[in-house]
Amino acid sequence: MKILAIHGSPRTLRSITRQLAQFVLEGAAEAGAETEMIDLCDLKITPCTACEGCSFNGICVFEDDMPALVERMKEADGVVFASPVYIDNVSGQMKIFFDRLADAIHYQLLAGKFGCSVASTHTSGGDAVVAYQNHVLNYLAVVSVGGISVATGGDSYAVDAREADARALGKRLCAAIADGFSDPKQEAEIADNREFFRDIVVENKDMRTEEYERWAQLGWIP
Ligand SMILES: Cc1cc2nc3c(=O)[nH]c(=O)nc-3n(C[C@H](O)[C@H](O)[C@H](O)COP(=O)(O)O)c2cc1C
Repeated sequence: MKILAIHGSPRTLRSITRQLAQFVLEGAAEAGAETEMIDLCDLKITPCTACEGCSFNGICVFEDDMPALVERMKEADGVVFASPVYIDNVSGQMKIFFDRLADAIHYQLLAGKFGCSVASTHTSGGDAVVAYQNHVLNYLAVVSVGGISVATGGDSYAVDAREADARALGKRLCAAIADGFSDPKQEAEIADNREFFRDIVVENKDMRTEEYERWAQLGWIP
């Protein structure tokens, strides 16, 4: 079982968010998972320019690290999104990464996986950023098992007080992958989204025949 954490703080190894995500991964490792942390700051990910090039063939016009990262996500059984709160939202690095997931979202390339989200903040917005990242997981047809945020109030050791909760979240993610996990509310949202994306897949049938056939095989096209 593979769990991949994708971390969006530019403070890399000094990051509180990264520490919290690391606790989640340690919990997952205790449950037997192989884990990996990816720091978005180490990667070259160009912001989406809405050229719609990827809609023709699934390939972005920019040659950067994003295709390899999507492959890593496809290989993983579980995905952890981790971002600091920047002005009530995810960091710019995280948002650029999310925008580049548009094709993976439209074609539901990660459907059936499980995930969770992590955020850290000085004071406010932690839970909202966890909820937003979980919402992005749902766009990807990934069911979230929950999330955790820490508000440090400027005390970088505040994260240590959440270690046990973060480890428990990692274990919960592994249990969902091993035994299944159902959340009717998220499943309904994913089903609604899929209906919307189905129109795109059907409309692009001639350009994206392989994807169309995959959707048909999965029973997603009536
Ligand atoms: C650009 C920027 C914007 C921030 N915006 C907020 C904010 O809206 N609310 C808040 O409470 N803290 C805010 N913070 C503080 C960070 O969320 C907080 O220090 C966080 O723990 C940093 O995580 P990191 O160590 O993983 O980078 C901001 C920090 C920066 C650099």
